[in-house]
Amino acid sequence: MIEFSASILNCDFARLGSEIKAAEEAGVDAFHLDVMDGHSVPNISFGPPVTKHLRNLTKLPLRAHLMITDPVRYAPKFIETGADEVLYHIEVADSDTLPKLLELGKPVGISMNPDTHLESVYPILPKLSQVLLMSVYPGFGGQRFIPETLFRIETLKREIERQGLSVPVSVDGGVNPETAPDIRNAGASILVVGSALFRSVDYAEVVRQVKG
Ligand code: DX5
Ligand code: ZN
Repeated sequence: MIEFSASILNCDFARLGSEIKAAEEAGVDAFHLDVMDGHSVPNISFGPPVTKHLRNLTKLPLRAHLMITDPVRYAPKFIETGADEVLYHIEVADSDTLPKLLELGKPVGISMNPDTHLESVYPILPKLSQVLLMSVYPGFGGQRFIPETLFRIETLKREIERQGLSVPVSVDGGVNPETAPDIRNAGASILVVGSALFRSVDYAEVVRQVKG
């Protein structure tokens, strides 16, 4: 079962309400909030106030992708304003990051940049709600999918199966109707889509093609 997770980073914020409604009517399964602090990544996006607006606009899951240097400090604010899940970056984590995030009582996933060694996540797989493999270097929507990600998806899937787990592998960056089939075949089950959705004229068609 493929989950289409719509990234709002490149939606029309002047019409956030109608964009969320249109995406929901088009059949997206969840919303992906790309939170950027201008420090961990070279861009600044939005914070808990936007999460609060989104929470009032949809009942679908809100998954907060925290591309920030201090996820432990800010994750509670995203949960308080309605996030159903928080995803932190392994590159900024230390040994107590995951335990502290898990104390918040919500599912916690991890995200890994394209050049981060997969093995670094193997020991903590059993505790994670998902592993989000970045298929672009984080910071901006509308970038080109990095094809080496396909091998990373397959390798990670093999390790998850070897450990007897069913942690979903998700992919974020440059996912669109053209790249989606290979991503699905490689074993990813959550596809994060931003610009390919919100820049399209027919949201439902994009959802159908990406979910196959
Ligand atoms: C990168 C962001 C983007 C966004 C979706 O920091 O995380 O990947 O979610 O990007 P596109 O527009 O490529 O779907
Ligand atoms: Zn993201």
